[in-house]
Amino acid sequence: MGSNPAITDLFTPYQMGSFHLSHRVVLAPLTRQRSYRNVPQPHAILYYSQRTTNGGLLISEATGVSDTAQGYTDTPGIWTKEQVEAWKPIVDAVHEKGGIFFCQLWHVGRVSNEDLQPNGNAPISCTDKPVTPQDQANGTINAEFSTPRRLTTEEIPSIVNDFRLAARNAIEAESNRPPSYTGFSLTSGISTSIILD
Ligand SMILES: Cc1cc2nc3c(=O)[nH]c(=O)nc-3n(C[C@H](O)[C@H](O)[C@H](O)COP(=O)(O)O)c2cc1C
Repeated sequence: MGSNPAITDLFTPYQMGSFHLSHRVVLAPLTRQRSYRNVPQPHAILYYSQRTTNGGLLISEATGVSDTAQGYTDTPGIWTKEQVEAWKPIVDAVHEKGGIFFCQLWHVGRVSNEDLQPNGNAPISCTDKPVTPQDQANGTINAEFSTPRRLTTEEIPSIVNDFRLAARNAIEAESNRPPSYTGFSLTSGISTSIILD
């Protein structure tokens, strides 16, 4: 470490609300598409554990709040009992090494297609306009997006409730720890396409 404060700060503690971080290097949320049938797999224990340091913050890959939340295959969810049970040993492994683990809850909205939706339904959104496919840097088309179904105002509370239940499930996924133990806390990643459109 030199005298450059930008470099020095990276390895100094930081108080983030009630969380005491021993340094400022954070694992960003990274979608991995390794959670077959939307269930986190045992290999994620090793993946997250390898990236854990004592007092370090990790944010999980985006994690679906319901069966309409997915925009990519094999991303994890946290709306079923099976998913919650599958998260427990992953969360335990991070806590075992002293890590602080946030669960990123998401619903992709219309950034999805019928193949990823229950019963082949249209993705749900605040709009019925489909996402324009975007070119990737390598020139290929990013993904196919179906025309979404615009939710009615009356339907919106059930989506809010999905987030509420997912948040409770994330707390449940803390497993056998005493309540005061740093938990599997929450960040929220609602589809940016809803916000921007
Ligand atoms: C393969 C890949 C998967 C990603 N998955 C998520 C995700 O699940 N949730 C999210 O909020 N951001 C996701 N991101 C964005 C990264 O978190 C972001 O790239 C990282 O924070 C670094 O920021 P930067 O790209 O602006 O430098 C993903 C990025 C990549 C490359």
